[in-house]
Amino acid sequence: MKNNRFFNRDVVSIKDFQRDDLEYLFKKTDEMKKLSPKEKDELGKARIMGYLFYEPSTRTRMSFEAAMASIGGSSIGISDLKSSSIEKGESLQDTVRVMDLYSDIIILRHQLDGSSKFAAEISDHPIINGGSGSEEHPTQAMLDLYTMIREKKKIDGLKICILGDLKYGRTIYSLLYGLSNYDVEIILVSPPTLQIRQESIYGLKNKMKIVELVEMSEKVFRDADILYVTRIQKERFSDPQEYEKVKGAYTIDSNILKQFKSDIAIMHPLPRIDEISQDVDSKTNAIYFKQASYGKDLRSALLALILNESPL
Ligand code: NCD
Repeated sequence: MKNNRFFNRDVVSIKDFQRDDLEYLFKKTDEMKKLSPKEKDELGKARIMGYLFYEPSTRTRMSFEAAMASIGGSSIGISDLKSSSIEKGESLQDTVRVMDLYSDIIILRHQLDGSSKFAAEISDHPIINGGSGSEEHPTQAMLDLYTMIREKKKIDGLKICILGDLKYGRTIYSLLYGLSNYDVEIILVSPPTLQIRQESIYGLKNKMKIVELVEMSEKVFRDADILYVTRIQKERFSDPQEYEKVKGAYTIDSNILKQFKSDIAIMHPLPRIDEISQDVDSKTNAIYFKQASYGKDLRSALLALILNESPL
């Protein structure tokens, strides 16, 4: 069996993982799902996951907690900054240092780009980036790729349309870096002020076909296999008026869906605000809640692989 390349590793950027690493993770995720609860329990027994969430989270924190519990481990953490010494002015550095004393692995979400890289330099235990500013959210991208494989049976050959706040959405950057390991076609659609940061995708255009648009165009969308929708990242706007200008700029509803291929899969990292209308939820195309559920499976495998040299 191939060596476990995740053992004791930080997950700061998805760029640090190649296609065969990702495929190994997806295979292990499938294998782990077949284990009995008793077998799974051995993988995280007596291990502690620490989490530090400087920004709000629902799925990332809960799925990591549920994942850790599912492999027999436990979790401690800070998600309410006001109840911790961060409120008193304690630095990220000191907070990570202390968390490192109490845990075997740390999940960090922080508003600054580079925060996870910084934490990984301080911590002896592995750091998992649960979202760093507008920079990256690598485990979201891992579960997004896993979702594509589960739902479309492949990634190579897919035409993927990514719609929304491409300037500030960190999930998009990790997703594009992850997708660049595959033979895919990408269509990026965003309001003009929320276009992708060119400097952050430098080099990707040599690896895959990327088309950038500022309007939905039926012609381009018609044969897309996946529509990946994202929320406008209100909290990252320095000028609230700029947010007001783009608020509600796009909405996917069941009417628009008629323009797409009948089996197009609609994905979203969630939370959804108003960019996907609720009438889409009942369509078989809507896979965003399934995607959130795959998140727990993938994160269980990721934790097990990082914490154990030979987990399975
Ligand atoms: C995303 C995030 O935090 O970047 N949420 C998530 O983890 N699923 C997306 C978002 O907040 O829009």
